[in-house]
Amino acid sequence: MFRIAHISDLHIPPFPGVPLRQLTAKRLVGLFSWHHKWKSEHRRTVLDALLAHLQEIEPDHICVTGDITFTTLPAEVDQAADWFSRLGDAQRISLIPGNHDAYVTGALDYALEKWSRWMQDDEGQTGFPYLHRRGPVDIVGLSSAVVTLPAISLGRIGQQQLERTEALLTRIKDDQRPCLLLIHHPPQDGAASRRRALTDRKKLQEVLARSPVDLVLHGHLHYPIQATLDCPSGPIPVLGAASASTIGNRKSVAHYHVIELETRVGQPRITVQHYHYNTGSGNFSLSGTQTL
Ligand SMILES: [Fe+2]
Ligand SMILES: [Fe+2]
Repeated sequence: MFRIAHISDLHIPPFPGVPLRQLTAKRLVGLFSWHHKWKSEHRRTVLDALLAHLQEIEPDHICVTGDITFTTLPAEVDQAADWFSRLGDAQRISLIPGNHDAYVTGALDYALEKWSRWMQDDEGQTGFPYLHRRGPVDIVGLSSAVVTLPAISLGRIGQQQLERTEALLTRIKDDQRPCLLLIHHPPQDGAASRRRALTDRKKLQEVLARSPVDLVLHGHLHYPIQATLDCPSGPIPVLGAASASTIGNRKSVAHYHVIELETRVGQPRITVQHYHYNTGSGNFSLSGTQTL
């Protein structure tokens, strides 16, 4: 049994002050949005409860599917690095960026450098896709984080990354290890509006039809969601986690998954436990279990 916690869309509060030289037009829009809409939703107390809960249940590994910051300010990136450092050994964490981590041109570069210990592959190389081989499981991390216009939060993988992903999945297929794929934006049709969608999701679907994985994990929507992708060898389950830092006034209250993989010859048995934040107790607690 291998247990993986899947958390997403932390948008780690508190929002720091913005130095004038880093105040772009898009950050101004983001700043307004944060203070008028999201500041009261993403709470540090919820993240503190999440950290305590993860330390209590001690998963074997933690997957983080992006939107770590709100506007990718260097101070936000540093604050996130501190939070991840408190989660434990870097080898136990696989991190990918989301659209909020590529908020303005060049900002993602600093984040990738600062967060490299949770993204580099097992040979110490950086870039996407990466492969983390942890226990019995292979974890493939993709990046759909691209800079967009204000009020647009679409994602794109890009042809080069898609080709590398297919080559990687083909290379590891013969090892017959359970494989999880991480991507911030949902890969299925209809989950996000045109302004928020993964633009090249059809191409990713084609790659996965030829080179299937056992489970896709994503974030971005800020509510729990489940779907499947068609594949000749059978449907691929897709799980989206809500934000892990929200109080629940606007969308879902904070939520995350614990995925239990029982490995055996053939398909792995996958059980998903849903944990929600309880505003009354101030703790995360089990809210449901399902077998995929
Ligand atoms: Fe988000
Ligand atoms: Fe997002």
